[in-house]
Amino acid sequence: MRTANIIKTILLTGLAIIITSGQVFAETSADSTEPLALRKIMQDLGKNMQSITDGISREDWQLVEKIAPLVADHPQPPFFEKVRILSFVGTNVSRFKEYDGKTHDAASVLAEVAAEKDGYGVILAFSELQKTCLACHESFRKSFQQHFYGDSE
Ligand code: HEC
Repeated sequence: MRTANIIKTILLTGLAIIITSGQVFAETSADSTEPLALRKIMQDLGKNMQSITDGISREDWQLVEKIAPLVADHPQPPFFEKVRILSFVGTNVSRFKEYDGKTHDAASVLAEVAAEKDGYGVILAFSELQKTCLACHESFRKSFQQHFYGDSE
């Protein structure tokens, strides 16, 4: 009788563990949203911007000239993600693309000014470039995060 109870307890505990772990699994798989490739692209943009400030501090205009085009011509998300993004952005597509175009243009100007080794010009062009990042973030970052990742971030 006692052994039967012990076995019953073990079985029930096992069952409980299976059920709860199943729930945990179901929850994480429902909540887990793969980060967008866009996020990695943005992180690389951030890193390149850091390299540029480092170049400015060292007056290494060649470095700035080399990195700025990586910002101007940053990679694009894969086709399927682009479709997801553009369908979410919807009627704001042209505004979204315009922001990206402004970043491209400002980074191209930065590369040109760096080629002239004009330190103050580089700093000015860099701050113009930063403004283009901020403009898009202010308009789109929050809604992207809500849409693609839920409210958790
Ligand atoms: C056309 C719009 C747009 C432009 C222009 C833009 N970004 Fe972003 N950026 C976004 C969006 C949308 C997110 C949020 C993406 C996400 O959370 O997955 C983001 C997020 C980021 C992040 C945070 C990534 C993370 O790990 O959460 C960094 C860093 C970043 N951007 C850097 C930059 C820099 C630097 C520039 C300018 C050189 C720039 N971005 C220009 C739209 C833009």
